[in-house]
Amino acid sequence: MNHKMLVILVVLTFFLQPVLINAESGALKEIKLPAPKEIRMPLEKALMRRNSVRVFSEENISLKDLSTILWAAYGYTSKGRTIYCFDCAVKIYVLMKDGVYVYNPERHALVLYKEGDYRDVSQYKAPVQIGIVWNRTKGEENLSCAEIGAIGQNVYLAANALDLGTVTTVGFTLKSIGLPKDEVPKIIMPLGHLKHPYKFIYLPFLISNFPRVKFSNVSLTEVLNELEKCKEFGGNLTEQEKAQIIWSTYGYSYYVDFTKDEFRYHLYRHRTVPSAHAYYPLRIYAITKEGIYRFIPNIYDPIYKIPIAFIPIPIPVFSFIVKVKSGDHREVVSEAIDVNVSSSPLIIISVLDLDRTRPKGHDDFSGKEFRWLWYYEAGASAHNALLEAVTSNLSANIYPIKSKETILNLLELSEDKFDPLLVTAIGTSQRR
Ligand SMILES: Cc1cc2nc3c(=O)[nH]c(=O)nc-3n(C[C@H](O)[C@H](O)[C@H](O)COP(=O)(O)O)c2cc1C
Repeated sequence: MNHKMLVILVVLTFFLQPVLINAESGALKEIKLPAPKEIRMPLEKALMRRNSVRVFSEENISLKDLSTILWAAYGYTSKGRTIYCFDCAVKIYVLMKDGVYVYNPERHALVLYKEGDYRDVSQYKAPVQIGIVWNRTKGEENLSCAEIGAIGQNVYLAANALDLGTVTTVGFTLKSIGLPKDEVPKIIMPLGHLKHPYKFIYLPFLISNFPRVKFSNVSLTEVLNELEKCKEFGGNLTEQEKAQIIWSTYGYSYYVDFTKDEFRYHLYRHRTVPSAHAYYPLRIYAITKEGIYRFIPNIYDPIYKIPIAFIPIPIPVFSFIVKVKSGDHREVVSEAIDVNVSSSPLIIISVLDLDRTRPKGHDDFSGKEFRWLWYYEAGASAHNALLEAVTSNLSANIYPIKSKETILNLLELSEDKFDPLLVTAIGTSQRR
C-alpha cells in the first residue's frame, strides 16, 4: 500500500466511523440516555413548587437530569406511559449546543436530527431547549395540545424537583429548525439551572370549606410509574381524597415564592398549572353522586382586579367548593362523552370562560385560533388529577367532550360565553 492510499484509508475510516457505529442502531447518531433518577419529592410538594423560570445560569444540564426530565415528559413505564396519550401525536425535539435531537421514548434515546446550535429560537436563553410539536396527520389539534399540556406539566414538576427550572412558551419560532411538513410547532420550554436559587416559604394561610391539602408519601417517580388507565369506575372517595384531587386541578400553592426574578410578572403564589398571560380562564366543576360543585380556587382573582398572586405578603387564600346543583347527573356526563362514567365517584369538567380570555385592555385570546392554548391548560389540569388520583390508589381517564351542548345545558351555561374542554373521571383501580 502506497503512502497516498494509506492517507485515503485513514481519512475514510475517520469519516465512516460514526456511520458504522450508528449503522448498528439504524439511526444517524443516537445518544442512549442513562436510566432516569428517582425523584423522591412527594407529588403535592412538587405541585406546590411548580412555577415558571425565565433566567438561567450558564451551567450545563447533566445527561442524567435530562434523561429524568425526558422520561417524565413522555417516557414509558411498565404500566404504560407517564402521561395519558390521546393519539400520541406529539414529538419532542431537544435543542442543545451541538445540534437538534429528537427524543425517542421507545429507546429512551436522543436521535440526532440536525447539527448546529438552534437554541436562539427560544424567548429565553438556556443550555437546553425542549421543542414540542403536534403532528397534524396523527391527531386532532386541541387534544394533542392537551397532551402537550400533560407533557409540559411533567417537565415543570421534574425540573423543579431536580432544582432546575423551565417555562412554557409559545413556540412558533421552532419552525426555523426545519420541521417535517406535517409537524406544527407549539411549545418551547427552556431548561437550565437557576441564576437565582429557589426560595419558597411554606405559608399555608388558607380559609376554605374543604380539607387542607396534605403531602402524601408518594414520590413523583412512583406516581409517574403507577399512572394507568382506569379499568373500573366504582368505589368511594373520602372528603380528603376529593379535596386533594380537586385542588390539584387549579389550586393555589401553600408556598410563597421569594425567588429573585427580573420579570415584572413574577408571581408570589403560584398555581398548580401555568396559564398563558396568567389569565387562568378555566372553571373547574366537580360532579359526584350528590351533585355538581364549582371549585373557586380563590375569591381574590385577577378578573376582579385584585391580583393577590403578585402580593409578597401572606394574604389568605379564600378557597371554596360550592354546590351549584343537587342530584346525580353522572348519566348526563356519560352521554356527553359517550363513555359510561355513571358510577365514577368523582368527575371533573374543565370549562373555558371566554370572557376571561379577553380581559379589557389586554390581549384577546378568545378566538378559535387560540383555543389550543386553553386546551394545553386543561390538559395540564386534568393530568394533575390523574397524578393525584394515584396517591390514593385510584386511577383516572381523560375524555374529550363529544356533545358540548349537553354539558352546557347541564351546567346552565351559554355557548357564546363558555366552552367545555375536557372531562376527567376518577375511580377505583385494581390496586384498591
Ligand atoms: C400555553 C402557555 C403559553 C405560555 N406562553 C408564554 C410565553 O410565550 N412567554 C412567557 O414568558 N410565558 C409564557 N407562559 C407562562 C405563563 O406566563 C405563566 O404560566 C404565568 O405567568 C403564571 O406564572 P407561573 O407559571 O410562574 O406560576 C405560557 C403559559 C402557557 C400555559
